[in-house]
Amino acid sequence: MAPLSVICLVLAGASQVASFSRFAPSLAPRLNANKPIDAFVDSLRLQKEQVQVVHDYLVKDSNLDAYLEHRSYDSTQLAATACGTLEILLGKDSVDTSPVNETVVQETWLSPNCASFPDAKADVSLIIKTVQFFGTQFVVRSGGHSPNPGFSSLAGPGLLIDLQRLNRISLSRDGKTVALEPGARWGAVYSTLDPYNVSVIGARIPHVGVGGTFLGGGYFHFSGQYGTAADNLKNVNIVLANGSIIDANAKESTDLFWALKGGGPNYGIVVEYVAYTTPVKDMWYQAGIYASAQVPAILDAFAKWQNTGAADLKSTVALIIGLQTTTLGFFYSEPASKPKAFELFYDIPSLAVAIPPTNGTVNSLTQVLGSTFSNVPQRHDYRAASSKVDAQLYNDVYDFWRQEASAVHNTTGANMTFTLQPVPANLAQEGSRKGGNPMGVPTEAHQWWTTIVDWTHAKDDEIVRAVPIATEKKWKELSEKRGLDVKYRFLNDASRDQNPLATYGTENLQRLKQIAIKYDPGKVFQNLQNDGFLIYQQSIH
Ligand SMILES: Cc1cc2nc3c(=O)[nH]c(=O)nc-3n(C[C@H](O)[C@H](O)[C@H](O)COP(=O)(O)OP(=O)(O)OC[C@H]3O[C@@H](n4cnc5c(N)ncnc54)[C@H](O)[C@@H]3O)c2cc1C
Ligand SMILES: *[C@@H]1O[C@H](CO)[C@@H](O)[C@H](O)[C@H]1NC(C)=O
Ligand SMILES: *[C@@H]1O[C@H](CO)[C@@H](O)[C@H](O)[C@H]1NC(C)=O
Ligand SMILES: *[C@@H]1O[C@H](CO)[C@@H](O)[C@H](O)[C@H]1NC(C)=O
Ligand SMILES: *[C@@H]1O[C@H](CO)[C@@H](O)[C@H](O)[C@H]1NC(C)=O
Ligand SMILES: *[C@@H]1O[C@H](CO)[C@@H](O)[C@H](O)[C@H]1NC(C)=O
Ligand SMILES: *[C@@H]1O[C@H](CO)[C@@H](O)[C@H](O)[C@H]1NC(C)=O
Repeated sequence: MAPLSVICLVLAGASQVASFSRFAPSLAPRLNANKPIDAFVDSLRLQKEQVQVVHDYLVKDSNLDAYLEHRSYDSTQLAATACGTLEILLGKDSVDTSPVNETVVQETWLSPNCASFPDAKADVSLIIKTVQFFGTQFVVRSGGHSPNPGFSSLAGPGLLIDLQRLNRISLSRDGKTVALEPGARWGAVYSTLDPYNVSVIGARIPHVGVGGTFLGGGYFHFSGQYGTAADNLKNVNIVLANGSIIDANAKESTDLFWALKGGGPNYGIVVEYVAYTTPVKDMWYQAGIYASAQVPAILDAFAKWQNTGAADLKSTVALIIGLQTTTLGFFYSEPASKPKAFELFYDIPSLAVAIPPTNGTVNSLTQVLGSTFSNVPQRHDYRAASSKVDAQLYNDVYDFWRQEASAVHNTTGANMTFTLQPVPANLAQEGSRKGGNPMGVPTEAHQWWTTIVDWTHAKDDEIVRAVPIATEKKWKELSEKRGLDVKYRFLNDASRDQNPLATYGTENLQRLKQIAIKYDPGKVFQNLQNDGFLIYQQSIH
């Protein structure tokens, strides 16, 4: 850890010396600068003793002085002062000023020069006021599961706001709702709820964070039956750009509530969600491993099932095709024995049993699925595309993908999947029934294609990512030609260069933009947030 922080200090020191000599005369009076400092310290509403400490810390900083007087300043040094301020405000063990090592998850590719770990909602309010005063770049992380570099991580001067300590999970006394703090992960959510015989519509893999999931909608096994994770929200408690902590729900700030159900990181920092629970606990599941030669038959059956078996909303199918093997899972939202809904698949013999037919629980399934994803630090990507239901289309795009993915695997070692996620008409209907959301999900059966891509070397980034990019193009080209096109892109699967919010429809996008400005008139989340699906920057993504 030492070498890097020493280098940072040396660099910061050097540039400070440069600006000292250039602006030597202004070292004397700092009356002008005191005003904004006073206003800032005031806005924090601190205890009297703390006011003095923060004030004293800030007034002696000539680099801050230069910044406030619009003279030449050092942005690395300024970010360091922002961080130093947070050390005073939150305590030293809530701020890491040289987080060389990664704080939680493997997915992050970048290292910020400072990270904060708020212990309470009020801390988050102090943090957002502070980054704003200093004009410091920041980024918000809950589970850190987004593989898009820069979305929940940051390189260079700036602050990582890591919500991992805000991770409480508390079920209401009547069991009808559960309060979830953003730093909780779904594995912990399902294991906590399991003894109470309820679950919640969240994400399928235990490591995924609560915070990011809802903001992109959130797809779960039983989203066809109950809607997206966001559709099942009762309340969102959020810290706005000005530090106010407010509730958004069906009665208060209803426009904001609507926007948060899929509108991404454009509105504030969510510090707590309250979701309605579902009565599903016991369920039936089974999964098998299949050979590549069986993929065409599986894709045929999948399309047929979407048009027939999927009418039983308790049923869903998970299909993950890899270069070597294919995994096919059948899930039913109550105990069962060989549900009829899946009968189209029963004639396709599996090579091996991955999970035998089981009456398990949502929790036991989640834990099993967790072991199937790699947690090794390496480079990752995912990508979204959609289409209407059509077996020939599925097979044609799959053939294209297989050729490309195989070639790139042979040259780089990259692994990737071809995954179809079924979306019955009822998913969007649940959304409308439960108050509406901005996502504009089509109200007919369709599918959300995605891919999980893992590779090792930075030098291969471009060649590896070219495969999912070309595959999305192929979906578009063939589905447009055949009248099977679906413009919608699922935000939680969308890669850094995609534009999911723009696929929500012109009217929804316009409304999302207006709501963003209403709750963040200074565009703090648009301009200071490092990256993410930022609604005023959609054209450059
Ligand atoms: C293997 C794998 C499986 C997945 N499975 C599913 C699935 O089953 N269902 C599904 O819907 N998605 C799934 N995803 C996608 C995943 O849900 C999204 O990437 C989601 O954003 C991750 O949430 P997080 O809190 O871990 O994200 P982070 O990486 O922490 O954040 C993602 C984005 O949300 C913002 N953000 C996070 N928390 C907050 C907050 N509290 N307030 C404001 N902004 C915030 C971040 O700034 C960032 O822009 C999967 C992804 C992978 C790689
Ligand atoms: C980061 O942390 C891990 C686990 O604590 C440790 O094994 C590793 O050596 C650390 N890496 C660096 C660069 O400090
Ligand atoms: C959950 O269900 C089991 C089995 O039906 C029952 O024994 C138990 O009391 C239930 N627990 C709660 C908290 O309702
Ligand atoms: C699961 O439960 C169903 C219905 O209760 C029962 O018919 C079936 O035999 C059980 N299956 C297994 C594998 O235990
Ligand atoms: C990749 O290598 C495998 C095994 O050698 C081979 O069967 C396959 O054809 C290769 N793929 C391409 C696209 O060349
Ligand atoms: C790709 O998959 C193989 C086989 O499971 C594994 O050994 C390898 O480590 C994976 N490579 C990457 C980059 O994830
Ligand atoms: C904070 O911003 C919101 C939304 O713009 C506004 O309604 C509220 O009055 C502001 N609060 C303060 C204390 O300025």
